[in-house]
Amino acid sequence: MRNRTDPAHLSLVDDYRRGDDRFMRSDQRARTPMFVDEAETGLVLSGLRRYNLFTTVFFLGRQSLLLRELADRSGVRPGQDALDIGCGPGKLVRVLGRRVGQGGTATGVDPSDEAIAHNRRRDSRHRYIRSTAQELALPDAAFDVVTCTFVMHHIPEQHRGAALAEMWRVLKPGGRILLADAYLSERFRRASAMTQRLRRRKPGDPAAAVDVRRYAATLRELGFTAPEFVASGHRTAMLLATKPAGAFEPGQVRADPPRGEHSQ
Ligand SMILES: C[S@@+](CC[C@H](N)C(=O)[O-])C[C@H]1O[C@@H](n2cnc3c(N)ncnc32)[C@H](O)[C@@H]1O
Repeated sequence: MRNRTDPAHLSLVDDYRRGDDRFMRSDQRARTPMFVDEAETGLVLSGLRRYNLFTTVFFLGRQSLLLRELADRSGVRPGQDALDIGCGPGKLVRVLGRRVGQGGTATGVDPSDEAIAHNRRRDSRHRYIRSTAQELALPDAAFDVVTCTFVMHHIPEQHRGAALAEMWRVLKPGGRILLADAYLSERFRRASAMTQRLRRRKPGDPAAAVDVRRYAATLRELGFTAPEFVASGHRTAMLLATKPAGAFEPGQVRADPPRGEHSQ
C-alpha cells in the first residue's frame, strides 16, 4: 500500500480519470479499459476488477468504512426504499439493502452491462437495472433515499442537470438525496498540481471537477432544502438534501409560493 504522502500517489485521481493502466497485468491492459467513453451516456464502467483494485488503493483499504458512513449519512431506515444511481460493483446497494432489511428494497442502476450482469449474478436479493441517471427507467416518487456516489463527473456535462431532476422525480416527498465524490485537502491539491507540473501535464485542478458543491445551486433550484456539505475522512465529500414533504414538481406553479424558498 502506498503512503499518503508519496508523490506518486498524489496524482491517483487524475490518473484514474485518464484510465491509467498501472493496476493491470500487461496482457490485460489493451483489452480492459476501466471505463469506456460513450458520448451521450457517460464514462461507463467496463473493467470491474480493475475498478475494484483502484478503489482499494484510493481508499487505502478502508472502503467498507466509507460505505457505512454513506449509509449512515443517507439517513436510510428499515422498511424504506433505497436507490443507488451509477452503482458500479454494487457495494453500496448491498449495504443499503442490509439497512432497509426485509421490509424495504434496495435498487442499483448503471448503464454498464458488465456491472449489471455482475451484480445480478452475485446478488439475487436486490434489484439491478440497466439505466442512465439522466433518463431513469423508474417511476415517480418511488424512493425514500437516492444515493449517487463518484458518478456525477461520469455523466456528460450537458446531462447533469437532467440527472439531478430525475433524482428529484423518483424521490418521494420527504425523501433524501446524497451525492458523493472525491474530496482532497488543500495540501493534497497543491501537491497534486506540483506533481502534474513535474510530469509536464496540462495544469489544472483535477479535484475541482469532482467537487460536489458545484451541484448545490441546481439542487436548490429544483426545490430541495439547502444542501448540507460534509467532508468525510475517506477522501470523500457529500452533499445532502431533502425533497420537502408536499413538494411540487419543478416548474409547477404554486398558488401561495412560500416566501424566501430559494433564498438560502
Ligand atoms: C466511478 S464509478 C462509481 C461506482 C460506484 N457508485 C462507487 O461508488 O464505487 C462510476 C459509475 O457511473 C456509471 N455511469 C456512467 N455514466 C452514467 C450515467 N449516465 N448514469 C448513471 N451511471 C453512469 C459507470 O458505469 C460507473 O459504474
